[in-house]
Amino acid sequence: MASSTTTLPATQPTPTDRMQQPSRRKFLKNSTGLLLGAMVPGPVKHFWRAPAATLTVHLNQPLGEISPLIYGQFIEHLGRAIYGGIYDDRKHRFRPDVLEKVRGLRPPLLRYPGGTVTKIYHWKDGVGKHRPVRKNLIWGGLDNNHVGTDEFMQYCQQLGAAPFLTVNMSTGTAEEAAEWVEYCNGMGTYYATQRQKNGHAAPYQVQYWGLGNEEAAREDAGTLQNPQDYIKKAWYYAKLMKLQDPSIKLIMVGDKPDWNQQILQELHPICDYLSLHLYASSKPGDPASLFTSIAAMEASIKVTAAQIKAYAPATVETFSKWYRFPPRQQPVKIAIDEWGIWEAGGRGAYNLEMDYTWNHALGVAAFLNVFQRHAAVIGLATWAQTVNVLAPIMTDDTTSICQTIYYPLALYRKLCGPTSVAVTLAGAEQLDVAASTDGKTLTLAIVQPSAQGVDIRLDAPTTGSWTAHELTAPSLESMNTLQTPGTNVVSYQQRTLPPGTTTYTVAGHSIVLLQAALR
Ligand code: AHR
Repeated sequence: MASSTTTLPATQPTPTDRMQQPSRRKFLKNSTGLLLGAMVPGPVKHFWRAPAATLTVHLNQPLGEISPLIYGQFIEHLGRAIYGGIYDDRKHRFRPDVLEKVRGLRPPLLRYPGGTVTKIYHWKDGVGKHRPVRKNLIWGGLDNNHVGTDEFMQYCQQLGAAPFLTVNMSTGTAEEAAEWVEYCNGMGTYYATQRQKNGHAAPYQVQYWGLGNEEAAREDAGTLQNPQDYIKKAWYYAKLMKLQDPSIKLIMVGDKPDWNQQILQELHPICDYLSLHLYASSKPGDPASLFTSIAAMEASIKVTAAQIKAYAPATVETFSKWYRFPPRQQPVKIAIDEWGIWEAGGRGAYNLEMDYTWNHALGVAAFLNVFQRHAAVIGLATWAQTVNVLAPIMTDDTTSICQTIYYPLALYRKLCGPTSVAVTLAGAEQLDVAASTDGKTLTLAIVQPSAQGVDIRLDAPTTGSWTAHELTAPSLESMNTLQTPGTNVVSYQQRTLPPGTTTYTVAGHSIVLLQAALR
């Protein structure tokens, strides 16, 4: 059995690379040693062995194309997410150590500026020379607006990520939102010229625009809690924004099924994506309850998928030419534009700075399996958030670390294929599995949230040897912390199984991506 190094991949191909070069599958070693910290070999836990289970891949049952955009990230003007997180306000620059770690996630999409802060955010405060200091009325503290639209675009460019902006439907106006589209995407007109004067000649071509954020929330500083109010205002915003740039894609706010039904019924001709926010959590002292919570999220995706089928035709047949812009061109998809794990007892602003354990990392992998199973209807997803707030990356003034959850986020992005295929598992109910392919390689994603090792018989149309990419940690409670930045509790191992191997043992509390060439 060939066994390789225990370093984690520091650099992943972009989703485009992955689709164009499906056979490039070599890990690149971390050149600085900083990104991943010291690795410790992970113990393989076999408390008791369950009887062999059978995993069967149904290659003739594709479940849909996995959008590369499901691996997006989200940053908000909230606490230490931007100032003290991605940006060093004393040095007036993006923190290079943090940028390097965010790059390791290779996000294809970055959502900004909120979140709830969208409801009080005015984009004109964040461009040009005059940057007013404002109270962050939503999350507390001050926003000096040193990071605004142009800086955000620069960050996206440095990451190779497409920008995704959310517009203010509460204290803002439709005209202000349309002017933002003009600033970002226009040429020759007033706000486009302002962008040029600010040093950015070429349009940013921002495609993804969220109309508001969680508008149903009564506690927030919005007024659109009645879905019909949202619908009326969303039409107005969409018209003005689309008249600036008819090619933009709109993400409409979703909520509970009743809200979603009304949105789909009324807005479907212009709704490219319906948004869902999915935050899983566990009950105190019951790590397994995290997976019950994730199962509930999967149930809500299923309900929303069924609603999209029922209320939104795949194509828009009638649309008045007097709108002066085209209707939606593709079937409505779900935008999971906030997803993550939100536990009680964090630190910082609104207790949103979380310590993520290895159990949470197992949860992230299970969540990503959910996205693969529902690939047909999920158009994009952005993990909430990126640095310090509900985040895979944590910082203090001088140091930054990757939390446990960083590693499944990075590994799935690197290895999973672009097409989801059906897979069934008999005899091991506790395991979570998903399968994907690029037409040449099959990738099985397996999560074992329980302690026992399980022997799995692999019934798959593959040839040659399997390669196993295994992530483990010493215990469910293991964490990476800023106090011990040189220690990484997460262990990665890549092993090539002997030719002809058809049974694989999944270790307890582990995440495994198994790959083999298709026959
Ligand atoms: O991600 C933190 C907050 O969670 C966002 O601002 C809001 O949209 C959600 O409720």
